Amino acid sequence: MSKRVFVTHQLPGERIHELSRYCDVNVWMGPGLLSAANLREELAGCDGLVCMLTDRIDGELLGTVPELSFVSSMSVGVDHVNVAALSARKIPLGHTPGVLVDTTADTAFALMLAAARRIVEADQFVRRGNWTPENAWAPDFFTGKDVSGGTLGIVGLGAIGQALARRAAGFGMEVLAWNRTPRELSGIESVSLEELLLRSDFVSLHVALTDDTRGLFDARRIALMKPGAVLVNTARGGIVDEQALADALADGRLSAAGMDVFGQEPVAADNPLLGLPNVVVAPHIGSASVITRAKMADLAVANAIAALRGQAMPHCVNPEVYS
Ligand code: GLV
Ligand code: GLV
Repeated sequence: MSKRVFVTHQLPGERIHELSRYCDVNVWMGPGLLSAANLREELAGCDGLVCMLTDRIDGELLGTVPELSFVSSMSVGVDHVNVAALSARKIPLGHTPGVLVDTTADTAFALMLAAARRIVEADQFVRRGNWTPENAWAPDFFTGKDVSGGTLGIVGLGAIGQALARRAAGFGMEVLAWNRTPRELSGIESVSLEELLLRSDFVSLHVALTDDTRGLFDARRIALMKPGAVLVNTARGGIVDEQALADALADGRLSAAGMDVFGQEPVAADNPLLGLPNVVVAPHIGSASVITRAKMADLAVANAIAALRGQAMPHCVNPEVYS
């Protein structure tokens, strides 16, 4: 009997067709994102799941699918999945590292530049018709903060953090980094998190969201940041206490922030960060280039096909399930 696989979103190109050579595929066609109730209903009786970072794969859901033999997420982060519950059942979890590294580092750099140089605020000023002869220019007109020559603190020196460091070198920045296990890399000064916060003009987050990093940027650590610093988050919203960050931005202690991720996504309209002009926001688009999303879909499908063929997934989060 053919295995049954549920895919929670349509994928670009011929990838669903490719997958359907190995199993019966059911794809969620929307409209909109899959709700938890829909996911539970569609996943019933399935052998495999290909999911997105917007799908919550918790222990309760997993308890309803005794047949499940693999999960493949089209994301590098897997904080939306209860990995321990999968591992306990020897179910492999696939993800998509590597291919999104440069695109995500580009996004972080773009947010850093946009936040520091007030690009979005300036864009809105022009579009709203405020650029008038009375308001044409002044010595302090939209003055921001120099990125070139500044000190960048990278929190989490994995592949994306290292890619950001390469970009920073081209801007003549001094690069500091904190990693749980310190890494010695040329051109990057390895420091404690506290020293990084005290010295950095720009801080960019590149750690996974885990029990150790949830709320890492709380009021106390935000207070340690250098006055006038800029915070950039393309990792996960749960790493930052958003109210504490908004308070520091509102009272001018920090000059700006660039946020691609939020504790709750889609972000609530009353999120305190949205009311601040010195915050540049984006809807979790760190890896959103056409080519990178295609590569991520390829890896998600390759992980699923390997599992269907009884092979080890090429990119498995919990490879211990194979031993
Ligand atoms: C994006 O946030 C990802 O985890 O792929
Ligand atoms: C992503 O692939 C990372 O390891 O940072």
